[in-house]
Amino acid sequence: MRRKRAFASLLLGLLILTGGYAKSDLLKIELPKNHSIFDDAFAPLVIKFSAGKIKNIEINSTTGERFVIKNIPESGYYCKNIKLKLAENNISVTAHTEDNRTVQKSVKVFYRSEVYEGADEAPYGYKKYFFHNSGNEEKSCTKCHDMNPDFKVKSSPENEFQVLENPKDSNCYTCHKVLVSRKNGHAPSVNFMCTVCHNGKTGENNLQEKEKSRYLHPDPIADRCFQCHQRLEENMVHNRSDHGPTKSGRCNKCHNPHSSPNAFFLRKPIWQLCTTCHAEKTSGKHVISSFVFSRNKGGHPTRGWPDPSRPGRELVCSSCHNPHGSKGPFLLRTTGSTPFKVCKRCHKK
Ligand code: HEC
Ligand code: HEC
Ligand code: HEC
Ligand code: HEC
Ligand code: HEC
Ligand code: HEC
Ligand code: HEC
Ligand code: HEC
Repeated sequence: MRRKRAFASLLLGLLILTGGYAKSDLLKIELPKNHSIFDDAFAPLVIKFSAGKIKNIEINSTTGERFVIKNIPESGYYCKNIKLKLAENNISVTAHTEDNRTVQKSVKVFYRSEVYEGADEAPYGYKKYFFHNSGNEEKSCTKCHDMNPDFKVKSSPENEFQVLENPKDSNCYTCHKVLVSRKNGHAPSVNFMCTVCHNGKTGENNLQEKEKSRYLHPDPIADRCFQCHQRLEENMVHNRSDHGPTKSGRCNKCHNPHSSPNAFFLRKPIWQLCTTCHAEKTSGKHVISSFVFSRNKGGHPTRGWPDPSRPGRELVCSSCHNPHGSKGPFLLRTTGSTPFKVCKRCHKK
């Protein structure tokens, strides 16, 4: 008896909450999936709605971006790449209906990066979502988007890159052009040779992702990079000192493979990048063993001066160290076994 009444009031409550019919028909966030992880700064938002019933739609995100769509597309779809800030982001979509009601939907996504403290790992419950498998692609996007892979099948797809005359001809362009929108664009990405890296294969660090997407990239990625940056690979073979993140092939820890506001497509400006992992060097001074400085007590400056060895550039960590390894000790830009040879790069006497 009692249980029945409880059930009835629950039902009533539900009816009041939903205004009598399912709100999900009015507005749905198809993508991104709630609690998905991103490794670059953009999340493709795809919303689906009942075009006839909606007056306008407002989109708000954690970066403070706000878009109001007044001309509701009759197709019932709207797509927009949303800029993410590091760590957790909330993307909220609010629809105002013709009969003056408000429907709101939102998703949380996590933009992860190993070189930003607090953003290196997503909280429990977040997962990487893979989009490019036949199940997802066929569902709704092909109505409006050409989702065929770009590359022409060649006898030896491993060694031949397709170069498009116009990147806009790429089937990846409409949805992913935002990835190369930052100031410095990496040549293969700007030219939409995406599958040079996204060859659908895995590496020893992402074996568990096998088959999840037709555009996987191997992790570690270095062998892809070396296809074009051979000199670097050749140099590394002869290194006397190696650098952990480079040696392990994780070039993308430091470089954004698509584009970046920073030089060399780095994820942070050089000095900030190095001191993320070498936090003990943040004082701006650097104790070099058995050396006492007159003016610079406590160490050698690591920034704030022009770099005498590289005209036009500032003194930074990489003025003295090669982040990819060296033929000298401590990644120093010198050969031989003693660190002091490096001094001569800048101090001639
Ligand atoms: C009813 C047609 C339609 C459907 C269905 C559709 N889209 Fe779109 N989409 C568009 C249009 C139109 C654009 C804008 C094209 C342009 O900017 O040239 C677009 C742009 C995009 C963009 C780029 C947005 C930006 O801000 O750069 C992404 C990402 C995208 N769509 C993803 C998808 C995905 C994923 C699906 C399937 C879940 C999908 N779309 C389904 C019509 C559609
Ligand atoms: C219809 C829009 C659309 C087109 C066209 C498209 N993508 Fe995507 N792509 C997406 C969306 C949406 C995601 C998933 C983002 C997310 O995590 O929510 C994605 C994810 C990816 C990923 C990450 C792995 C995965 O499967 O999730 C790669 C790599 C990628 N796309 C490469 C490509 C390449 C290469 C092309 C061209 C051959 C291409 N995409 C064409 C919409 C598109
Ligand atoms: C030089 C190698 C390289 C090229 C070229 C490249 N990518 Fe990537 N891409 C990567 C790597 C490595 C990752 C893994 C995540 C990271 O390091 O940012 C990645 C990640 C992605 C993701 C997932 C981003 C996310 O937020 O999780 C998408 C989508 C993507 N790439 C699309 C593309 C498209 C589209 C192109 C062509 C315009 C392209 N990539 C060209 C190496 C590359
Ligand atoms: C398909 C060939 C190709 C692949 C693969 C490739 N690159 Fe490049 N990369 C280029 C070209 C071309 C340039 C521009 C020419 C130049 O400045 O050396 C460039 C430039 C760069 C630069 C800037 C060089 C400078 O002096 O300003 C960096 C850094 C870089 N790539 C890193 C990478 C990393 C990391 C990978 C792997 C994730 C990679 N590249 C994969 C072709 C490629
Ligand atoms: C993602 C983290 C990370 C970043 C970013 C990073 N390092 Fe390192 N670095 C390491 C680790 C881990 C080691 C120690 C072990 C190793 O080299 O394998 C190391 C070691 C070193 C060493 C000592 C090498 C030796 O032979 O004893 C130097 C010098 C160094 N890094 C300089 C730099 C400079 C300069 C930068 C910026 C261009 C930088 N690091 C950025 C992780 C990082
Ligand atoms: C620890 C961070 C870090 C890692 C890991 C790293 N790089 Fe770099 N890379 C840098 C920095 C910093 C510069 C700029 C150096 C300077 O000041 O001239 C650079 C410059 C470059 C350049 C252009 C100048 C040159 O030295 O040729 C290329 C190409 C490049 N990196 C490719 C790669 C490839 C390929 C990998 C992986 C095998 C990789 N990087 C791994 C930090 C890194
Ligand atoms: C003026 C040249 C110079 C600059 C600039 C410089 N270093 Fe060094 N670094 C050295 C020398 C020389 C050594 C050799 C160790 C010694 O003599 O004690 C060294 C050693 C190191 C080591 C290994 C030993 C230790 O002290 O842990 C790390 C790590 C390191 N540097 C990181 C950095 C980082 C990070 C920056 C930028 C914030 C930087 N260096 C800037 C010259 C420099
Ligand atoms: C990449 C260039 C570069 C390298 C390599 C370099 N320095 Fe310097 N050094 C500078 C700059 C720039 C300054 C600050 C400007 C100045 O005081 O002349 C400086 C300052 C100094 C000073 C302070 C000068 C004073 O009057 O107090 C000493 C001492 C010094 N460096 C010693 C060394 C030693 C020892 C090494 C080798 C371990 C070395 N430097 C490597 C660029 C460099």
